[in-house]
Amino acid sequence: MLKITVLVSGNGTNLQAIIDKIEHKEIRNTELVGVISNNPNAYALERAKKHGIPAKCISPKSFETREQFHQALLEVVNAWKTDLIVLAGYLVILPKAMVEAYSSRIINIHPSLIPSFCGQGFYGLKVHEAVLARGVKVTGATVHFVDGGTDTGPISLQKAVEVKEDDTPEALQKRVMEQAEWEILPKAIDMIANGKIKVIGNKVQKVK
Ligand code: GRF
Repeated sequence: MLKITVLVSGNGTNLQAIIDKIEHKEIRNTELVGVISNNPNAYALERAKKHGIPAKCISPKSFETREQFHQALLEVVNAWKTDLIVLAGYLVILPKAMVEAYSSRIINIHPSLIPSFCGQGFYGLKVHEAVLARGVKVTGATVHFVDGGTDTGPISLQKAVEVKEDDTPEALQKRVMEQAEWEILPKAIDMIANGKIKVIGNKVQKVK
């Protein structure tokens, strides 16, 4: 049974997709052991509580130093015996010690087709604003393993989504979430939980 901890900062619609798909057994052999947010007002925490899932706010603002915050975050993730950390809209840079301790065991959902529209400053609506400004006809979402960089780790899954002529950033964000994010993040978790993918160097390979 893969134990996953989900880190969130906002509304938690990706978390909700994970919760629902575990409950409907579309994500198999997986236990959601807890949810952590840096933001005390994140509705994602409410979503977890509604489903009886341990939910904690660990905010950098509650600690004197960044190092103390990092230590508190890692302590909880370790205490929950986490096998896989899932970043679902988590907007805080992870501690280096966590990335090293959970090497190839942290995944992130990004709302574009990496390597387009990713990296420093590309998050939330900013991604979709840049997509519309560039005039691309196709965008999408990416699940990737987290390494020491920003949106640079091995790519697990991607799904393309059409950009429409009259799209606003909000309309495009909604379509990318509905048609891509809420599908490929749960699918990636299920594949990892059932040994269907593995990381080889900087690539992800499907296991036959
Ligand atoms: C999503 O668009 C995700 O791609 C990005 O942050 C957003 C989180 O949304 N990383 P939610 O909190 O899951 O609704």
